[in-house]
Amino acid sequence: MLQRLLYIFLLAAILASCAENKVKYRIGVSQCSHDIWRDKQNAELKMGAYFHDGVALKFAAAYDSDERQVQQIDSLVNEGIDLLIVAPNQVQTISPAIDRAYDKGIPVIVFERKTSSRKYTAFISADNYEMGRIMGEYIVSRLHGHGSVLEIKGLEGSSPSIERHNGFMDAIKNAPGIKVVASLQGDWTELKAYESTQQWLLNNKDVRVDLVFGANDRTAMGARKALGKDVLYCGIDGLPGENGGIQLVRDSLLDASYIYPTHGDQIIELAVNILEGKPYEKETLLMSALVTRDNAQVLLMQSEELMRQAHRLDQLHDKADNYLHKLDTQRVVNWMTIGIITLLVIVFVLFYLYHLRKISMQQERVANTLWNMESPKASPSPSEGGDVQIDDATKNSVSSGNQTSLPSEGLGEASPFLSRFREAVEARLSDSDLSVDDLAADMNLSRVQLYRKVKAVTGASPVELLRTARLHRAYQLLLTTDKSVSEVAYTVGFTAPSYFTKCFKEEYGKVPGDVRKN
Ligand code: FRU
Repeated sequence: MLQRLLYIFLLAAILASCAENKVKYRIGVSQCSHDIWRDKQNAELKMGAYFHDGVALKFAAAYDSDERQVQQIDSLVNEGIDLLIVAPNQVQTISPAIDRAYDKGIPVIVFERKTSSRKYTAFISADNYEMGRIMGEYIVSRLHGHGSVLEIKGLEGSSPSIERHNGFMDAIKNAPGIKVVASLQGDWTELKAYESTQQWLLNNKDVRVDLVFGANDRTAMGARKALGKDVLYCGIDGLPGENGGIQLVRDSLLDASYIYPTHGDQIIELAVNILEGKPYEKETLLMSALVTRDNAQVLLMQSEELMRQAHRLDQLHDKADNYLHKLDTQRVVNWMTIGIITLLVIVFVLFYLYHLRKISMQQERVANTLWNMESPKASPSPSEGGDVQIDDATKNSVSSGNQTSLPSEGLGEASPFLSRFREAVEARLSDSDLSVDDLAADMNLSRVQLYRKVKAVTGASPVELLRTARLHRAYQLLLTTDKSVSEVAYTVGFTAPSYFTKCFKEEYGKVPGDVRKN
């Protein structure tokens, strides 16, 4: 019983602490790839989630595989996410999985890469066409309107690759002096760009290349590995940090880059607005900027500062998380302590009450048994319409002048003492001068000894028992003899009938005359 109560307390405490950390929104993030650009964005997504209670993120990275991304989206949906954030690997291939999620009523935020379907809740990205166009304009001006450019595209079928290419082509359309010697297919990775360039070089050794436009910085760097340092290289992404595009531009490994904004925290803000039914923009275009040698140093310093702050924020979050965790544990411990103390108090009180009851029952039993008093108290009183139950033996003994014999059962070890006490009392019941001192003397005890013993065994004092005995005998005499109330009073040792009547009423709730009437 005690163990069960303890379990209940423990469970309640744990549930109370869990309720505090309850997840309100499960957001699935399906990344088409895994690289430093995605790492930065994932970190921002996590950071964004810190600012909202109950937002849990579940990340999946498809490593540029369509099938894997489709599977991952389906399983995120099956896991019961409340919202899907997805960067689709290619326009066509991922759309069916996204549509399935959307058709199940899950809000979908498509970011950075597009799908072929309109089944999404919101879209957020920088303008890839515009980035390609601005980069094209930069290249035209960098080459002073004359020169040959090798383009290395991103992954075929992925929307940023298509749009950056289109923007770039549109920009150089107006520059007849710029010749695109080839547009090679890449897949966003450095390795693929290197291999494609090497392959192209096999048949185009004598073709002059002044500048390479890579669909992203990694692609541009892959081409650099194949073509060497005498060519200018431009890319897109402009990431901060070690070996990011900004540093590559500052160190003249790249000629220019374009910051492709990650803005993970903003995406989470958008997601929470959607989930909470707040107003939100269906299409969000993120602003960005060109990185050249002129601004690379400043941008690098700024971005490093930002990263430093983000890192500190992260540490702060970990600290707060740690404290909250400790607080949770503390709360559980507190609840358990309160529970255990309450249990102990309950057990103690119950035990105490049980003990008291046991003592009082024992004393009552002894006192009742002593004068066989159960009859007048427990049986219905004559005034209530019933007869006082006095067994034949009692009647006979009273009418014949004998005393009722003392039942010795239930008195335990106290029995011989009580028998003696009772005999002493009954022998001198009619003696109105009988005092406790007399009784004590009869029993060879001091007054105090007698008092302590009688009190301990019966719970009543000798005086009280003497009075009860007198009244009990009176009750029996009233029932079984024709003696008047006054005679009965004197017979049982009262000196004044009026005082006898008063005591009788206190004991039995009725006057002696009422007993006689019946
Ligand atoms: C990162 C990345 C970037 C590129 C973008 C295009 O996964 O390859 O380098 O700019 O995706 O979607």
